[in-house]
Amino acid sequence: MPIANRFLSHITDKEYFYQLAVSFCPKCCLVQLDDVPKPQQMFSSDYAFISSTSKVMSVHFKNQAQEIIRFIKNRPKPFVVELGCNDGVMLKHLAFRKINHLGIEPAENVALIAQKNGVTVQNAFFNHQLAQKIIRQYGRADVICASNTMCSVENLDSAFLGFQSLLKPDGVIFFEDPYIYDIVCLASFDQIYDEHIYYFSAHAVLKIAQKYDLTLTDMQHQPFHGGSMRYYLKNISLSPKTSFKVRNYLRQEKELRLNQFSGYKKFNRRVKKNVLEIHTFLAGRKKQKQPVVGYGATSKSTTLLNYCRIGPDLLAYITDNSSTKIGKYTPGTHIPVKSRQAFLTDRPKFTLLLAWNHRREIFKKEFLYLNKGGKFITYFPKLKIWRKTKSGMS
Ligand code: TMP
Repeated sequence: MPIANRFLSHITDKEYFYQLAVSFCPKCCLVQLDDVPKPQQMFSSDYAFISSTSKVMSVHFKNQAQEIIRFIKNRPKPFVVELGCNDGVMLKHLAFRKINHLGIEPAENVALIAQKNGVTVQNAFFNHQLAQKIIRQYGRADVICASNTMCSVENLDSAFLGFQSLLKPDGVIFFEDPYIYDIVCLASFDQIYDEHIYYFSAHAVLKIAQKYDLTLTDMQHQPFHGGSMRYYLKNISLSPKTSFKVRNYLRQEKELRLNQFSGYKKFNRRVKKNVLEIHTFLAGRKKQKQPVVGYGATSKSTTLLNYCRIGPDLLAYITDNSSTKIGKYTPGTHIPVKSRQAFLTDRPKFTLLLAWNHRREIFKKEFLYLNKGGKFITYFPKLKIWRKTKSGMS
């Protein structure tokens, strides 16, 4: 598999490939990648993913900032650290209110955008060593947070060790990442790619937290990225209560046996069935000479396209609104990425919704395309063709 966010300027560009496979660890309950590319391969200076490309996600991060502001209210000299702050989509709201903060962002190009957005950024990978430096320079943090980042941290132990020393005794850590329960329910195998090294569950987070004198106090399910979970951790010495929600999620995971290997056994079979369905659909359209295009050159789509062997013969191009991707080619499969304007002018009959996790936002935005008979195709848990009818989308 190629690196998910390494879009190519030329199809002849050299690409790095690695073996993509996941395993379950019965000791720590984590589902994790077997082979992890070097972090520098993934978060290079031409990293393509920009958080603010989705309006819905921008609102979500504004709400997250407001939650932090409520938490730190009345605290003396509050300090907030965010791991993987990307373009500053969340921290810019704290920067605007002159709240002491620090964003840690390993991808240089997006760290620069965050800086332009008024955010204090350190272009680095978070680990125990960096935590010590932050303490020396800024002091301890009231809030440490991360969105779609903890799943990419190569050395989780070093990060948690860093948390242990960086967090004020009465502070809070929260992080959100795609939830393994949702991935298993949908069989959304495209969530598996290089940046997603870990696939968290309540069981796994509880175990790693306990190792570092922290405990899981609360969880909040998020309807983003095909189902994400936000985990709240506090210092165990405060004897914080575990919420009813945490106990419920632990029970829900046990029901699917996600704390054992047996819970993952059927996944492979469901994925193969799904892949066949997608491939048969695209091959059928090709035979009928009805070109299909993709919508959203997501990181996830790198897994889908490469695993299903979908190239420009089956998917003419992919439209995306990221300036970092337009004019480039998809990793491994070399499908051209075009602007939204090109898509609107072309108005293809069928569009494979690769950014299926942004379905509602995209359907709303592309109402003209849908009104004129355009059809979107989603594929989890099974293939579905969406068209506009008098009563809405069906
Ligand atoms: P994500 O699934 O990792 O959030 O990536 C979403 C991708 O889809 C990103 O490259 C931006 C693109 N996108 C669009 O092109 N148009 C849109 O309206 C949205 C929401 C996303």
